[in-house]
Amino acid sequence: MSVRTLLERAVGTVERWQVLDAPGYQVEHAISLTFLLSGRYARRLQDVLHGVWLGHPLHPFLVAVPIGSWGAAAVLDGLDAAGRGGPGTGQAARAVIRLGVAGAVASAATGLTDWQHAHDEARRVGLVHGTLNGTALALYTWSLADRTRGRATRARLTAAAGYAVVLASGYLGGVLSYRHRLGVDHSESRRDPRRFTPVAEVADLTEGRPVGVYVDGVPLVLVATGGEVRAVGGRCPHLGGPLGEGWLHRGELVCPWHGSRFHLDTGEPAQGPSTAPLPCYDTRIHDGRVEVRRRARWRTPTATTAVEEASR
Ligand code: FES
Repeated sequence: MSVRTLLERAVGTVERWQVLDAPGYQVEHAISLTFLLSGRYARRLQDVLHGVWLGHPLHPFLVAVPIGSWGAAAVLDGLDAAGRGGPGTGQAARAVIRLGVAGAVASAATGLTDWQHAHDEARRVGLVHGTLNGTALALYTWSLADRTRGRATRARLTAAAGYAVVLASGYLGGVLSYRHRLGVDHSESRRDPRRFTPVAEVADLTEGRPVGVYVDGVPLVLVATGGEVRAVGGRCPHLGGPLGEGWLHRGELVCPWHGSRFHLDTGEPAQGPSTAPLPCYDTRIHDGRVEVRRRARWRTPTATTAVEEASR
């Protein structure tokens, strides 16, 4: 059996493993409770951990710390075991393992915050991914304790086992990103009309109520608000939630799935879990119809108001 087939089967088994659902929901409830206990800061804390402030998921940045640090520790341990290390090799290995432990704790916090919104197969893979990371963290903590007690050989073996677990977990992390598209921008921002294209009758719009429309097969949302018609992408960048079924809250468009909120004029997320902005469209009213055109990300908002157009 080829390596590829073996890995496919292993991942497929995890994806179908429904026995993971019950503990998965328990972990999710524990995460929700933890955020609930942080009171009015809960939302802000989650946004920080998601990476809304960064415009990119924070988790992939942080996982580089334990992987890199523990990789460096493996090299240092290897040199030490081969008798080629210098006098400070053991100390350096201990320092990078400590750095990796700190990075693992931080990346666990971001990973769990992202994972709580995953569904079905991605949720099961994420649970195994997190369990493996927890196991690696425990092994490295054990290895540190052994280094302090002077049990060098066992400490190196424990660290090596930890790195093997990290590699397996990293593979599942890749499955979550590349197959299940967690952390990937789900808005369809690349197939937009370059010319003004009619999408709806002005008479069909109601002030303050999002209306889902399609242009060239791409979902959009129109919102008549304050005498203007705004147009943004219809699929939430987080996990593709249908924004046409969303609602307005203080002038921001709310995703019905996990509550991301978006500014209508810039598409930027005002609240996560989405870290990516919505594509925005220029609008104009022509012959009683709303027309939209793709707006480049760097251009300032130029939504044409229905009131202005009607008065021309
Ligand atoms: S799909 Fe998750 S917030 Fe929209």
